[in-house]
Parts: sequence; C-alpha cells; structure tokens
Amino acid sequence: MANEIIGRQEGLLALGEFLDAVPVSRPALVFEGEAGIGKTVLWQEGVRLARERGFRVLTARATQSELQVAFATIGDLLASVIEEALPQLAPIQRRALEVALLIREHDGPPPEARLLAAALLSVVHACAQEEPLVIALDDVQWVDTTSAEILRFMVRRMAGERIGVLATVRGRPAKLPIELDRAFAGVRRFPVEQLSVAAIHRLLWGRLGLTLPRPVLTRVHETAGGNPFFALEVGRALVERTIRADGADVPLPESLRAVVAERLSALPARVQETLVAVAALATPSVTPAGAADTGRG
Ligand SMILES: Nc1ncnc2c1ncn2[C@@H]1O[C@H](COP(=O)(O)OP(=O)(O)OP(=O)(O)O)[C@@H](O)[C@H]1O
Ligand SMILES: [Mg+2]
Repeated sequence: MANEIIGRQEGLLALGEFLDAVPVSRPALVFEGEAGIGKTVLWQEGVRLARERGFRVLTARATQSELQVAFATIGDLLASVIEEALPQLAPIQRRALEVALLIREHDGPPPEARLLAAALLSVVHACAQEEPLVIALDDVQWVDTTSAEILRFMVRRMAGERIGVLATVRGRPAKLPIELDRAFAGVRRFPVEQLSVAAIHRLLWGRLGLTLPRPVLTRVHETAGGNPFFALEVGRALVERTIRADGADVPLPESLRAVVAERLSALPARVQETLVAVAALATPSVTPAGAADTGRG
C-alpha cells in the first residue's frame, strides 16, 4: 500500500497506550523530532485510530505561515464542532468566540483570552460528555500567540476525564509549547528516531517504485540520517535522473532545493554530495508504475 506506515512499532504501541488511557486518565502524548522524520504520519494515524474507536477528535495543524494570524489554531480546532457548539454557550462566551473566529463583526478590542478560554473549555467539556475526546495538535511550535495563550489557559483547567492531547513538536525543546508539560504531569514525550535501512528500502520501493543496489541504499540512508522525507527527496532526484538518462550531470531539482532548504536547512550540501556519490556508484533501477502496488516489502 502506498501510504502504509513503515516500521514504527514502538510509536504505534505508544499510540495504543495513549488511546487506552483517554477514557480514564487524561493522557498527553507528544511526538517530537527533527523535520521530516515522520511525526505527522504517526499523529495522523493516532487521529484515525481514535476515530475508529468512536472518540471525538478535534484537530488543528499549525503552520509557520499562520504563526501571526490571530486565533488561527483555535479556529482550526473548532471548525468541525462550531455550529453545534455555539448555541449551547452562554451568550457572553458565544459572542467572544464569534468575534475571535470572525463569524461576527466587531469594532472594539479583541475578546479577552480568559473569556475565550472559558468558551473553549465549555465546548471541549460538552464534546467529552458524549464520547471520549482527543485534542490533536500538529506542529505545536507554530500555534499562533493568541491561540497559544487560550490553549495554555484551557489545558490547565481541563477537568474530569475522557480527554487526551495528542501533539507533535519539531526538535526536542526543553519545555513544550503551550506548557503541555506543566498541564499534564504524565505527559509522554516520544522521540521519533531515524528509520532503518530496510525501512528506507521499503519506503523508496513503496512510494517511488525505486530499488537501489545495497551500497547505494546504504549511502542514501546514511546521508539522510534515516530521515524518510529526506530519503524520499533523494529518491525522487534519482528517479528523475534515470528517466532523463541523458548522461549529463543532473542538478538538484528546484522543488528539492526549496523543500529541503525549508525543512532541513542544515543539510542541502550533503544531499548534493550524495546525489553525486550515488550517481557514481551504480545505476539505480526504477520499476515501472504499478509495481509499487504489489505490496512487496
Ligand atoms: N513510517 C513511515 N512510513 C512511511 N512513510 C513515512 C514514514 N515516516 C515518514 N514518512 C513519509 O516521510 C515524509 C515526512 O514525514 P512527516 O511529514 O510525518 O514528517 P514530520 O516529522 O511531520 O516533518 P515536519 O517536522 O516537517 O512536519 C512524508 O512524506 C511521510 O509520508
Ligand atoms: Mg509534520
């Protein structure tokens, strides 16, 4: 399957334990690690599994470009429940939330964070009454300041049970954003580490139909530091080179340059080196389209 999760048994186990705990003990699980290492893949699987169990899931995916957008994450988080939630709120909370989420015109100062946090708390508790609730936040380091303040206030006051927080964060910050470590005494920080050579092999085969001779594969794995995003970008560049087969030295594609620069700014020079080294080692083979669906690996 093209989108299967390769490896990650321990991460999946952590997800299972987290989900078991949601109905009983207000757990928090945070996947952390470098850009492209596979945090979001695990997070998405957690969201899927939670829904499969019949839990309510509120999701928000923060992005760097929305870092300055007021209430961006809160709006994202509430998108799926706002219609049913608003009529149940006290009028003052309802108005505050409507103003924050630009549902209602308003000229004055923005609503107070405490009022919004209380509104959010009411929504969250109402959701958790019906079924266990997972608040799922991808890339918490990019939650906009206004949302972060509200969330910080909210997670500290989340009472009762049947609520869990599932998050991802870039890097290994000493302190977690939105004070998750203070709000959840038992927060579990799960480091997402590199994939094995065999896993990278399966990834390149499954996603690109690319099979590399062992020494080339090892070199790709080594340079990518077992990072799947990075390995896939190298793989794509190799595929492009093979398809062109014009013998000329293929420059690093623009898409790769841009994405790698954004996600792994420390490493592009090494990618270039690898491409040259890999090209010199052997001719990689690319299986025709369709072969990737055979489920091999
Ligand atoms: N275990 C895995 N199995 C299959 N594909 C994976 C796996 N881990 C990561 N990938 C693929 O690698 C790429 C990067 O993964 P992902 O987006 O989850 O990284 P990330 O850690 O969230 O990065 P960022 O910090 O930039 O958000 C994606 O294309 C994803 O599909
Ligand atoms: Mg991610």
